[in-house]
Amino acid sequence: MSANDDVEQLSGSEREELLRVASAVAEKAYAPYSNFRVGTAVVGEKGTYIGVNVENASHGLAICAERSALAAAIAAGERKIRGIAIACVDAPADSSAGFPCGACRQWMLELAPGAEILILGVAGSFCIEDLLPRPFQPRQS
Ligand code: THU
Repeated sequence: MSANDDVEQLSGSEREELLRVASAVAEKAYAPYSNFRVGTAVVGEKGTYIGVNVENASHGLAICAERSALAAAIAAGERKIRGIAIACVDAPADSSAGFPCGACRQWMLELAPGAEILILGVAGSFCIEDLLPRPFQPRQS
């Protein structure tokens, strides 16, 4: 990923801590239909926010962990998201199942354009341009 000037870069210990929090919160996922638990930790200027996937008997109503954590950060007044850690604790190792879905990438583009994105089990980090090239972006942020 490339650095973003608008937000303060994460330190090495913040990266570790964010992944640890995301992994821990994944245990709280409500995923009785998929049995695929996901936890997310988002860090802004004021604090860290968590989210999990929450499913429903009406399957299309599920919300992903990334969007639930971003919504919590926005509700707390955060507008400069520095980092996002995603932990798909049930994803097979060496698969792309740990990467965020397209809808969550679109949310990240709008709400966390400067964030460093960390994925449990994947070395290094990403920026949104890595994950969502040539996006739908009618209004430049
Ligand atoms: N899920 C997430 O929480 N984040 C993603 O980026 C992809 C998928 C959830 C939705 C659903 O509860 C389960 O994983 C299986 O798709």
